[in-house]
Amino acid sequence: MDVKSLIAQMTLEEKASLLSGKDFWTTKAIDRLGIPAMMMTDGPHGLRKQSGASDNLGIMDSIPATCFPSAAGLAGSWDRSLIGRVGEAIGVECQKENVSIILGPGANIKRSPLCGRNFEYFSEDPFLSGELASAHINGVQNKGVGTSLKHFAANNQETRRLTINAKVEERTLREIYLASFERAVKQGRPDTVMCSYNRVNGTYASENPWLLTEVLRKEWGFEGFVVSDWGAVNNRVPGVAAGLDLEMPSSGGVTDAQIVQAVREGKLDESAVDASVERILNILFLRMATKNRNPAFSAEEHHRIAREVAAECAILLKNDNFLLPLSSGSTVAVIGEFARKPRIQGGGSSHINPTRVDDAFEELSALHDGTCTYSAGYRMDKDEVDSALLGEAVAAAHAAEIAIIFAGLPDSFESEGYDRKHLNLPQGHIALIEAVTSVQPNTVVVLSNGAPIEMPWLHKVEALVESYLGGQAWGGAMADVLTGKVNPGGKLAESFPEMLENNPSFLNFPGTRDEVVYHEGVFVGYRWYEAMHIDTLFPFGYGLSYTTFDIGHLKLDKTSMKDTEALTVTVDVRNTGEFAGKEVVQLYVADRASSVRRPVKELKGFEKVFLEPGETKRITFMLDRRAFAFWSESLSDWVVESGMFDILVGSSSEDIEAIGQVEVTSDYVEPIRLTWNTTVGDMMAHPRTKPIVEAMMAKMMGPDSPMAGLTMENDEMMKAMIAESPLRMLRMFAGPAVDWSFLEAMMDA
Ligand code: BGC
Repeated sequence: MDVKSLIAQMTLEEKASLLSGKDFWTTKAIDRLGIPAMMMTDGPHGLRKQSGASDNLGIMDSIPATCFPSAAGLAGSWDRSLIGRVGEAIGVECQKENVSIILGPGANIKRSPLCGRNFEYFSEDPFLSGELASAHINGVQNKGVGTSLKHFAANNQETRRLTINAKVEERTLREIYLASFERAVKQGRPDTVMCSYNRVNGTYASENPWLLTEVLRKEWGFEGFVVSDWGAVNNRVPGVAAGLDLEMPSSGGVTDAQIVQAVREGKLDESAVDASVERILNILFLRMATKNRNPAFSAEEHHRIAREVAAECAILLKNDNFLLPLSSGSTVAVIGEFARKPRIQGGGSSHINPTRVDDAFEELSALHDGTCTYSAGYRMDKDEVDSALLGEAVAAAHAAEIAIIFAGLPDSFESEGYDRKHLNLPQGHIALIEAVTSVQPNTVVVLSNGAPIEMPWLHKVEALVESYLGGQAWGGAMADVLTGKVNPGGKLAESFPEMLENNPSFLNFPGTRDEVVYHEGVFVGYRWYEAMHIDTLFPFGYGLSYTTFDIGHLKLDKTSMKDTEALTVTVDVRNTGEFAGKEVVQLYVADRASSVRRPVKELKGFEKVFLEPGETKRITFMLDRRAFAFWSESLSDWVVESGMFDILVGSSSEDIEAIGQVEVTSDYVEPIRLTWNTTVGDMMAHPRTKPIVEAMMAKMMGPDSPMAGLTMENDEMMKAMIAESPLRMLRMFAGPAVDWSFLEAMMDA
């Protein structure tokens, strides 16, 4: 399709008409030019195609579709190919329903555990989030359906999400919040990017030229189109100029007319309109060409995939005395209404109408070769203790050999549209865990929640499985994990703080009336807990297995390198236990010394491997320049400073099992701006000015100077005080011993 010549045939009104939706979910057609309408609908962990009335809060009905675990759950798998398969299954379901673009995945960083929408996001770490989002995008797009990477950018809370101004310094944006999108854009190449509702450093994302054009297109090479989040347009005309191509949903023609008028009045360049139309049509015709209305799949088969995926995402957080997997013949008291009415997904625009929903109690009863009883334990609709239900549960737990409590957060506790206020479980769930563990030491808790909770009861339970929001086949998947049919291999994609107050954004979330300032900077998640030496309940990357692994034999292909070279790292991982299982091997890089404060270490690689008992596999990681770099505010660029870096490989951020070192050299020298207020210390720290200041000091302490006799080398106190002195003060003290003219010349230069 020759899009450019099509555009040449369009009237200005026709072009403007293509820049906003026809209705809630489709673009406008231009019949006379053979341009069809295109449908976009929600996901991302399944298809939400509405059957009747439209809304963006998941209130109205949608057609049945397979509900996979939501992003927080999927991230627990740390498995690119698994997430790719989920993407493919969703892509196929989109094809069947004539949907050209699915609105997801979300790549926002989990800044605070309170964000109501954390269940839709992958991680607190940009590398992990970007890798998993790319895998999701590739899966969907492999099946000929487009994606919309959302919500770009700095949309890390629901409170005032439509208007809040996120104030974030550029280094923090680049290293954390944008980095997640950057990786997903470059690797995943999504058809579209969805701009967020909020403002970023004062400008709405929907009319932010720096975000939408400078960074996204010019720097990252994004070639698709940008769509607004539903209703995110604040001012349409500057939006077009900034690079927002498509406004969704329909504006009823109002903003189309504004665009036409602005062009006619010379306030908007028609070339900006043409560029947006071209980008939209390129994707539209691509997706028309990749349409496949008869994809082969069965709901049954997709349910089976959903079960496999949910089991792969489960994270075993505690398993004292090898309580799990359940021993055969045991009597098990299954407790908690979630076992029969599971919470499989979060609320809001991603809410899917599942094709069916597994019941964990039924599935467990069918799989476990022992006896299972059921008691509800709490009421789902009330945040209070129900004494009668509690009593029944305690009696059942007492009579059994093992109790399994299904607990977690009900719908009302977390959703799109609002943030959580605390990290507590409902009262009824806490009381149940307390009461059951007082009569039954062999208690397992299985959690269904979209984000971390506090666990004051943790020491009382023997085993803990974090299943997040596991999708429609969660019940079957839990039966697989609890009985050992599947060996859990998930790892936390976020830190679980001991208490809310420990989390890095605590004092600055959700901000004041109009503004939230990201004071913690790059110290998000484990980057904060490690720098501050704050213990977590469970650290980033943590998760157990029914077997054990050993990581070792770390080798680097070189011990010193230029920053422009790549480093190859290999390690061996061995299954040292008795079950076949999967380990997630994680690689972190630590900069030993830096001119800016950097995190203790940062994730730069991970691989998930399957191993039979006794088996060993070698894993290879490639580290490029970016793995060592930080964002320099003074240079507005990525910078690698020469020095030693540690390469740390382990099974979680806290369990580092193999360490290597590499010396990296780069041409980068931190710029120094010399004025009479530059301190002696700064000059001493810089390779270009160090010899000058040393020569100066030698003269100053020479026999003719008023400072004669002072010995810098031996006097630490003197050294420290002089280091803090600006040059202008030295000039005062040094007297005629020093000729300052060369310094003056340097400053001028
Ligand atoms: C959400 C988006 C969603 C859109 C359409 C918005 O409220 O933020 O994630 O894709 O609605 O439903």
